[in-house]
Amino acid sequence: MKFFVDTADIDQIKELLAYGMVDGVTTNPSIIAKSGLDILEVTKEICSIVDGPVSAEVVALDHETMLAEGLKLAKIADNIAVKVPLTWAGLQTCKVLSDQGIMVNVTLCFSANQALLAAKAGATFISPFIGRLDDINLDGLELIDDIRTIYDNYGFETQILAASIRNANHMSECAKIGADVCTAPPNVIKAMANHVLTDNGLAGFMADIKKAGIKIL
Ligand code: G3P
Repeated sequence: MKFFVDTADIDQIKELLAYGMVDGVTTNPSIIAKSGLDILEVTKEICSIVDGPVSAEVVALDHETMLAEGLKLAKIADNIAVKVPLTWAGLQTCKVLSDQGIMVNVTLCFSANQALLAAKAGATFISPFIGRLDDINLDGLELIDDIRTIYDNYGFETQILAASIRNANHMSECAKIGADVCTAPPNVIKAMANHVLTDNGLAGFMADIKKAGIKIL
């Protein structure tokens, strides 16, 4: 499973790159707004340090403007994935951009039917939002499972990019289901390393190292 980092924070991306934990980056208008940076400039900088796909989202609602925005975003770098919302205008834009060989990430997916439409429109990635479904007492992971079944039934090549990941458990559950990619905030990726028994075990080893005076260097 590929790890994308859901942030526009350059320092955090660089930190995770050093651990081999960054196969790509995703942003959205809320992430860009939070960064306080210019969308074109920050996206260009991210593309210069990350080899994998970098998702940058259009801001228009109509197809013509979305397409113009998508083409402008795609010019930033070869690894741009243009992110469009799962609306009819977004699907139309997805089809046109995909036909031109541009990667497209269809976002704000909350149902299996929406994911089926995105695959038909040639999406490179479909982004189902797990956490926001959980927020309204629906089952986000069940949606990932349903999409996996549908895509496998028909051999769709659209990659399932599980998004709105809120905790480390979401990551391992998505990996068990077979999501192609998970995009998560840096703190969630870091939390995957945590286990109380690792902490306790290390404390025990350290006590014995001190008692026995064990040295390697
Ligand atoms: O990739 C989409 C993601 O950023 C949404 O996450 O936590 O705002 O639902 P969240």
